[in-house]
Amino acid sequence: MQLNTFPTAEKASKYVAEEIAAYIADKNASNEKTVLGLATGSTPIQVYKELINFHQKGLSFKNVITFNLDEYYPMGASEKESYHTYMHTHLFDHVDISGENIHIPDGMLPGDMVKEYCKKYEQKIKEVGGIDIQLLGIGRTGHIGFNEPGSPIDSKTRLVQLHETTREDAANDFGGLRNVPKMAITMGIETILTAKKIYLLSLGRRKAEITKTCLLGEITSERPASYLQGEDHVEVILDQEAGLLIQRDKIN
Ligand code: GLP
Repeated sequence: MQLNTFPTAEKASKYVAEEIAAYIADKNASNEKTVLGLATGSTPIQVYKELINFHQKGLSFKNVITFNLDEYYPMGASEKESYHTYMHTHLFDHVDISGENIHIPDGMLPGDMVKEYCKKYEQKIKEVGGIDIQLLGIGRTGHIGFNEPGSPIDSKTRLVQLHETTREDAANDFGGLRNVPKMAITMGIETILTAKKIYLLSLGRRKAEITKTCLLGEITSERPASYLQGEDHVEVILDQEAGLLIQRDKIN
């Protein structure tokens, strides 16, 4: 695992966007596809802003295929709290990606279709050659995607129960805890770890404790982000505040 700390959230986000943009530009030059695994939440918003800047300066997303980590369940795509709406608002509506290359789990499937759908989501990722770059945030439970405590290392895309802390963190967006869905569809830990390159972005003081525990503590299903430890293809990007406790402990 590589660790890269930046003085501000803006600089950290800029770095991640530059890495992604350089990868896309490289692939575009030889007319190859780039497959991105994308995250939601407040953390990657600045990364997406920077990617839109790159697009405005000429970077094309025509060869980009995306797979989002997760979606609430149940959740209609056009609801304002959906990750579909989030992705269109923060990125897709501002770049030249084609609709057929966008994949976000469907939060409106009838219960008996979810299992088969999740299998197909995995298959689609494989069919396009796997995820080149996976962007991750971290939840206060140590979740990545919506892989909450208890998620096994070999988990795949599936329907999960959300942790109460995760629901509480989302309460503001939903106008109250009682409106926050209790479930979600998320890529699994194995799905995430098979990406060729992973950027875990953690920003702000409120992430300092969980970031430290996940990066320096025991590797355990109780804190799924801890599975990223020891993986050479993982780069952890922190701003100074999120890295506050880690610097004191000296990561090696
Ligand atoms: C949600 C998302 C996660 C994200 C997390 C952190 O739970 N499903 O992918 O990492 O929120 O959110 P934020 O970046 O707002 O702290």
